[in-house]
Amino acid sequence: MTAKRVLVAYGTTHGATAGIAEQIGETLREDGLDAVVLPADDVDDVRGYDAVVLGGALYAGHWSGKAERCAERNADSLRHRPVWLFSSGPLDRSATEHDIPPVPSVARQMQLIGAREHKTFGGSITARTPGLLARSMLRQGKGGDYRDPDRIRTWAHHISGELATA
Ligand SMILES: Cc1cc2nc3c(=O)[nH]c(=O)nc-3n(C[C@H](O)[C@H](O)[C@H](O)COP(=O)(O)O)c2cc1C
Repeated sequence: MTAKRVLVAYGTTHGATAGIAEQIGETLREDGLDAVVLPADDVDDVRGYDAVVLGGALYAGHWSGKAERCAERNADSLRHRPVWLFSSGPLDRSATEHDIPPVPSVARQMQLIGAREHKTFGGSITARTPGLLARSMLRQGKGGDYRDPDRIRTWAHHISGELATA
């Protein structure tokens, strides 16, 4: 039997969400799936994939425009395959300590696409993150890497499990 092909697409501004997507892709491959990780802007057609995981960074309470446009561009095809969404944002331990529901724009996309599930992962801003706003947040002591590899891996294994029984 050929491995199921899974697209992991991400909308990032500074790279933290790309790191989460890469980790999800790696874990899916460990589980025997044929996972491809791509920037959301590069995704014009998802019909070559059996399932899709789409994530975006959160800025000012909104999902990444890159992720949102990818979802809108591919909405018809996404409705016909299993889809999981994720967000990367909180710069504290809140996403590790409890489930954080999707922001309204992501909840709307979930409904439009019929996505199975959504997860919020902690985000990351470090001294390497460019931009004046990031620098000012760091000065206020709001930075750090809160991406939680264990939680990301657990969720990716959960997706593999669902695809194995699909
Ligand atoms: C200006 C600015 C606004 C942000 N707004 C939010 C927000 O509304 N909600 C949230 O959870 N995280 C927020 N964050 C944190 C980012 O979502 C987090 O750093 C994320 O991991 C960035 O992802 P990226 O590197 O892929 O762009 C904000 C960060 C910055 C710099």
